[in-house]
Amino acid sequence: MNNSRVVVSLDFPDAKQATELCQKLDPTACKLKIGKELFTREGPALVERFINTGFDVFLDLKYHDIPNTVASACRAAADLGVWMLNVHASGGRVMLETACEALDKSTHKPLLIAVTVLTSMADEDLREIAISNSVDKQVMLLAKLTKSSGLDGVVCSAKEAKHLSAELGKEFCLVTPGIRPVNSSSDDQKRIMTPAEAIVAGSHYLVIGRPITKADDPLEALNAINAEINSVA
Ligand code: C5P
Repeated sequence: MNNSRVVVSLDFPDAKQATELCQKLDPTACKLKIGKELFTREGPALVERFINTGFDVFLDLKYHDIPNTVASACRAAADLGVWMLNVHASGGRVMLETACEALDKSTHKPLLIAVTVLTSMADEDLREIAISNSVDKQVMLLAKLTKSSGLDGVVCSAKEAKHLSAELGKEFCLVTPGIRPVNSSSDDQKRIMTPAEAIVAGSHYLVIGRPITKADDPLEALNAINAEINSVA
């Protein structure tokens, strides 16, 4: 495992485009995130190929099902050799604990983190599914459940990182998207933070897509972000 805190989000429709980008990156200077689209099109073979090239891979499939099914899926991901994977905290304590137990038994133990409330949801969306908590309250409730169930951390907005880090401790792993270096386009992200701000707020890993993947020189963009992180870490 390398010690880079940047996870490059491979939001590409196929292996060709994802591979072209990765050939421009340095596996010792970043990690990769593979999500539902790329995985559904290209499958575990692509994950294995990136791992064999030396990249740490975060498999972002957000498992949410009955405990036995989620545990089996987590074990399958661990067998692939991924560095990190995730589940939905709203699957509940038994699902979370069973997933942890499954990974404890695997020879290669990846980090297991949880998604709390999807950032696409607002208070009124929660009310519609009979959750009367505000989004903020529900995020904290699910983050505490995640920690007490034995997982390593949560995905959260960098804006939530300071509060979560204060409540749950600095060891609890915070993985944050919505990162934009100064002077880069915010694209469709609404609540953004710079890499340095996010690290200072308590983020452990930064999920960054377009500022790197759409840069004229992706490695130069990555190196600049790493330098910014190192200046505050
Ligand atoms: O290109 P950009 O840096 O905006 O990519 C961010 C990545 O993080 C995308 O894969 C996006 O789906 C993911 N993400 C996010 N906000 C969340 C959860 C995940 O931007 N709340």
